[in-house]
Amino acid sequence: MGIVLAIDAGTTGVRSIAFDESGLPLTSAYREFPQYFPQPGWVEHDANEIWDAVLATMGEVSAALDQPIAAIGITDQRETVVVWDKSTSQPLHRAIVWQDRRTTQRCNELVEAGHLDLVRSTSGLVLDPYFSASKLDWLIRNGHITVDANTAFGTVDSWLVWKLTGGAEHITDTTNASRTLLFDIDALNWSDDLLDLFGVPKSILPEVRPSSGRFGVTTTDLTVPANIPISGIAGDQQAALFGQACFNPGDAKNTYGTGSFILMNVGSEMPDPVDGLLTTVGWTLADGSTTYAMEGAVFVTGAAIQWLRDGLGIIDDASEIGPMAASVDSSDDVFMVPAFAGLGSPWWDPEARGTIVGLTRGTTRNHLARATVESMALQTRDVIDAMASAGGVDVESLRVDGGAAVMDLLLQIQADQIGVPVHRSAITETTALGAAYLAGIAEGVWSGTSEVSDAWKSDFTAQPNADRADADALHQRWLEAVSRSRGWAAS
Ligand SMILES: Nc1ncnc2c1ncn2[C@@H]1O[C@H](COP(=O)(O)OP(=O)(O)OP(=O)(O)O)[C@@H](O)[C@H]1O
Ligand SMILES: [Mg+2]
Repeated sequence: MGIVLAIDAGTTGVRSIAFDESGLPLTSAYREFPQYFPQPGWVEHDANEIWDAVLATMGEVSAALDQPIAAIGITDQRETVVVWDKSTSQPLHRAIVWQDRRTTQRCNELVEAGHLDLVRSTSGLVLDPYFSASKLDWLIRNGHITVDANTAFGTVDSWLVWKLTGGAEHITDTTNASRTLLFDIDALNWSDDLLDLFGVPKSILPEVRPSSGRFGVTTTDLTVPANIPISGIAGDQQAALFGQACFNPGDAKNTYGTGSFILMNVGSEMPDPVDGLLTTVGWTLADGSTTYAMEGAVFVTGAAIQWLRDGLGIIDDASEIGPMAASVDSSDDVFMVPAFAGLGSPWWDPEARGTIVGLTRGTTRNHLARATVESMALQTRDVIDAMASAGGVDVESLRVDGGAAVMDLLLQIQADQIGVPVHRSAITETTALGAAYLAGIAEGVWSGTSEVSDAWKSDFTAQPNADRADADALHQRWLEAVSRSRGWAAS
């Protein structure tokens, strides 16, 4: 029945991957795109550069295939704000990226004015600059865009479908909509109350559809043939939850990429909000059934390794970090809190900043490497602890993926910290795989989620060490280090 092409439009680059009917990757192409940092704490992308990377990588993959593409699935960095003119298909401003902190003050004002309860109960999110709404509000309020009949807003998925369909479709899916902070995740439609709060006119919003189902078909003159159905869309972390086959309540995954995003399936009813965590849409299938997820969003994990490479220059390549960390037995009480973009779950402190504590004359770069790897596991534990304190379902094991999950040491520290087994998926590109499955299920390449579960395999499992005392002692010291990083930018 054919090949499914997944486009994974991430934060730092775009990867296109063709999957065969067994869910195995056949061929892939990757291209990075530029990051713009116009001021401290600001992060922007050029939406045309993202599109160029999509065209290039899909063309490369398509050229290498000797069978037709049955469907395209799209997964994307979430929350990032793209605004364009429908008549010219040109962006009206650089895209404002999820990591951007420019709206911190505005979010604080809205909290002080008492709007947090509305936001929490309607969108499942918190009032943090992370999400789209305050960024869109910033563009409109400061006159950077003027809204008229041709103005379109969307997350990156909307932008790509607009371009892939030659301007025929202005749509998004429920998972991406659920990250805008403008969406009612219970009713599954745009919230008039939230639109009012952020001064966003409804006319610029995309139509919201299920994550699996036909969104449109490719236009002519692309780098892939015309008339291929685009039939799956999900935000990257939700796509990974799907690709990791987390189909039962309590099933959880963590992706160690730029940041780490721990998502747990919580079933088909919208749950009550949990302190420190987000409630979000996991996916909506073509029959309209929606699965919800509880999420902990940790902004910086793998990016801390990139900082050791690019900022400090103590490594040349990310792959050096695992062996360096393993060369010492402990970090010798050195802790690195990578709050470069503030802290997300469970602290939600946009004014926290990166902090290294406990340095002595005996500290070496290996201790710093170990402290960095430990910080990835410890931040994840903080999220899992918050999930446990919610009562509901306990995490019984954690499925992991992402660039930094190649480190066995990280997975061992993780298992020790959370006290349950940690399984690494044999296919590391679970984000793209999830998007491919959503599209392929809609087009009949796969019959449904049971085929996804059957195909899932692990290539490595870390079992927790029986002794919890050492793990808990390390975690206690970590919490002390976190407290030192809090509020720094405001002090
Ligand atoms: N061999 C390695 N050992 C340890 N960490 C690694 C290794 N290779 C990559 N990484 C880390 O993995 C991260 C990249 O992971 P991944 O490609 O999953 O990121 P991503 O978050 O999906 O990217 P994007 O945000 O563009 O989608 C980098 O931050 C890097 O530090
Ligand atoms: Mg990614």
